[in-house]
Formats: sequence, C-alpha cells, structure tokens
Amino acid sequence: MTQKISQEKIKKAITFLIFGITGDLSRKKLIPSLWDLYCDGILTKGQFRIIGLSRSEYGIIAFQEYVREVITKTRSNVNEEMLKSFSECFIYEIGVFEDPDIYKQLTKQLRFQDKIFGSCSEKIVYLAVSPERYETIFENIHFSGLLRTCSENGSLGRILVEKPFGKNTQTAQLLDDKLGALFEERQIFRIDHYLAKETIQNILNFRFANHIFEPLWNKDHIESVEIRLVESFGIEGRGNFYDGIGALRDVGQNHILQMLAMTAMESPSEFSDTEIRSKRFEILRYLNPLCIKDTFGKINCSHIVRGQYRGYRNESGVDPNSQTETYFRITAHIDTEKWRGVPFYLESGKGMDVTQTFIRVNFKKSNFGALCPIGNPYGCGNSLTFHIKPNEGISLCFWAKRTGFSKELERKTLRFSYEEGDNFVRIPDAYEHVLLETIRNDQTLFPSTDEVKAQWAFITPILEQWKNLPLIEYDRGSSSVG
Ligand code: BG6
Repeated sequence: MTQKISQEKIKKAITFLIFGITGDLSRKKLIPSLWDLYCDGILTKGQFRIIGLSRSEYGIIAFQEYVREVITKTRSNVNEEMLKSFSECFIYEIGVFEDPDIYKQLTKQLRFQDKIFGSCSEKIVYLAVSPERYETIFENIHFSGLLRTCSENGSLGRILVEKPFGKNTQTAQLLDDKLGALFEERQIFRIDHYLAKETIQNILNFRFANHIFEPLWNKDHIESVEIRLVESFGIEGRGNFYDGIGALRDVGQNHILQMLAMTAMESPSEFSDTEIRSKRFEILRYLNPLCIKDTFGKINCSHIVRGQYRGYRNESGVDPNSQTETYFRITAHIDTEKWRGVPFYLESGKGMDVTQTFIRVNFKKSNFGALCPIGNPYGCGNSLTFHIKPNEGISLCFWAKRTGFSKELERKTLRFSYEEGDNFVRIPDAYEHVLLETIRNDQTLFPSTDEVKAQWAFITPILEQWKNLPLIEYDRGSSSVG
C-alpha cells in the first residue's frame, strides 16, 4: 500500500513565474512536480497560480491543453477532473526574455492575479532557460520591479537558478556580483537537484541519528570513499549544451562535490539551512588542489583520468574535433584533521555499462584476516553504501561465519530499500522537493554562494590543465576508463 506523502497544506498564496515553460526541464520535471504537489494536496486550487513565459505560439486554452498532455505522458493513473482543474491554474504569456515590454506585461498580470487572490501572493521565479539568458532576465526583473508588485507581507520574491552557475571561478564570480547587485542573497536559490534527492538528504539523518557510525566516521577507521555517477546513455541530443561543458562541469563541480560534502561534513549544531550550508562549505573549502606547480614552475595534475566515448563527435551539436570529456575520474583529498589521507574517488561518465549513482564508504579491514576467504576482491572490510540510483536505499556489507564446518568468513549484506515493505511511501522527485523548499523559504537544499565558489576553486585549476592531459577514447558500454 502506498501511503500519502505528507499532510502539509500550503496556506499562503503563491505565484510561480516560469521562464522557459515549454522547454525540456519544464516538460520533464517542473510541470510534473507541480502536479505531484497538487495531487498530494500540498498545493490547492485557488491558492497558487503558474504564469509561464516562452516564445512558442500558444493561446491560454491551447497551453492548458499542452499542460494536460505533459501530465498524461509523464504520470500514470491520472484523474481527468483533477487534471483539468490543475491545468486551469496555468496562465501563459508569449514573449522573448530580452524584451522589456514583456516584463511590463508580466507585472500587470501579477497585479491582476493578486487581485483575484485578494492578497499579495509570494512570487517564485524559476529560470528554466539556458545560462546565457540569466543576465538579461535578472536585469529586467530588477528594473521592471516585477517582484515588487506589492509588499505588505514583506516577501521579496525568490529566484531559482539552475546550474551551471558560471563556467569557472571567474564567470561564477561575475554572475554572483551581478546577482548580488540586483537582489538580496536570501532571495537567490541556486539549484543542485542532487541535494534534493531523498537518499542524499538521508545521509545526514542516518549518520547523526545512528550513533554506531559517527564515532568511526574519520581517517582512523575509513579507508576510502567512492562516489560514482555513471550513465549508460550518451548526451541524448544535448550536444549544443554539453559540448564545451563536459562531464566535470556538468556533474562534477556540483552533484558529485555536494555528495562529497554531505558525506564528510561535521555534525550541524542544529538542522537549520545556515548551519548545514556552512558545514558543507567547511568541507568544500578544504579540498586539496589536484593540479599544483612543482619547483620548476611546471603544473602537475595527479590522479586524473579523462575520457570521451567513441562516437561522441558524431552527435548532433558536437564539434567533430571536440576535446570535451564525457568521463572523468579523480582522487580528491580533504585537508582537515579528520580526513587527511583518506582518498575520495570521484567518477562520472556517459555511455558506460550501467546507470548507477552511489556513495560507498569503505571501512578499514579488521585484523581477523586469517579467516578472510583467499582471493576475495574486497578484503574483509565493511562498506556502507548510499544507493542513489537505481533502487534508492542504504546497505551495509559485513562478514559472518560461513554456514557449516568451515571457519571461513562470508560476505553478507543488510539492506534498506525505500520501495520495500507494506507501507511504501512514494519517493518525491528531487524537483518536487526543490519547489516545496522554495515555498517554505528554506535554503538547506540549495548551495550557498560560498559553497559554489569553493566548488569552482577546486575544479577550475583542473579545467585549466585539461588540454595537457590525455583524452582517452572508450567504447560505449565500458565499465571503467584508463
Ligand atoms: C544533470 C546533468 O544535472 O544531472 C545530466 O546535466 C545528468 O547530464 C543528470 O544526466 C543526472 O541527474 P539524475 O537525477 O538523472 O541522476
């Protein structure tokens, strides 16, 4: 039996303003996630409104029909009546993001909607557009006064920004300066949807609620940590975006480093957004640089493998001579008392043999080696794995006596899986969580500007050295590279 996910019901009036409502992200994630929040009764008819903006030619009726189509294609067992009432919460505006007049029109529309609400709704702006458009949109939102249509409830409006947040340290800083000049930091929600995944959030609860792990969570007991995000598919028609960006910027600078931060961070004194973000930052800022100048001034990068799958250069939107990596593997170290010497193996690739994301903490081996089966690939250490994709859950590998007359050890697993058991609760999509936390005005799941800068500070020197490192070609379906 599936249990209801939440009893929460949002009371305040909310207006979402989505730039790029007909794009990929809106179709695959945002509209379906809003639908899920609606089906759960968290968002309710008359309490919220979505104004979508895009350049596609739709009238309001045709657009509401489009919304219904999106839901029927992405969700099963859809209640028709409910879907109709959901689609009626959408309003559509045609326009290009560079046109100042469209912001006047949106301002008018927001005022009108607030009149219907009978109150000043909270405004949430989602930029589901390519990053080159950010600056124009930020400026127009600011100068048009779009988020200041009313202010009796003191809300300033919130802006959700998708990654990539810049392309390196310098561009991220420029973008940040721009945002800082136009908006207050508390208005800006930088999205890393990995932080909103159920199992990744669970890392903190699991680590700090079960006292059996935390005393062992350091270099004295942990041998290594593996963080792996691999996908069997390629770039899926995203050549224009991906080429020149590459795997390290696409998922390394953000998702993988955030998984590392969640795994290594110290216990927060309270579960507040300020505290948790600052603890993550305390890890990210101590990541050791991988590329350093030797005594002759030459830059050396250690522990880095980069690869590109065969056939990538023939994909649409990709330069036939592209040097963009679709795979990387690096070994990172955190220069703190607690973690010094523990390797964090970070790996990601497209076109691999499986689609799988996990974080595995490998504990040191026990001294009981004599009973360890000869030639087993694991040694006799324990490992704790957070399974993020597929089959979200947590498992612990341990060793027990082989049944029978042998004294030898045998490897066993204890596993918790979200999808098992009678009282299975639907796991919310990460984007559903992102939207709900923005409504709640809680920034825990959103990296702070300090975190983003620390992430770039680690990644940028590697990117600068990319061209000096070999780019290994690999076959699609490979299990590893180099
Ligand atoms: C995105 C990347 O941020 O994350 C994609 O741009 C990647 O290239 C995706 O496939 C992985 O996310 P998820 O939630 O599907 O594991």
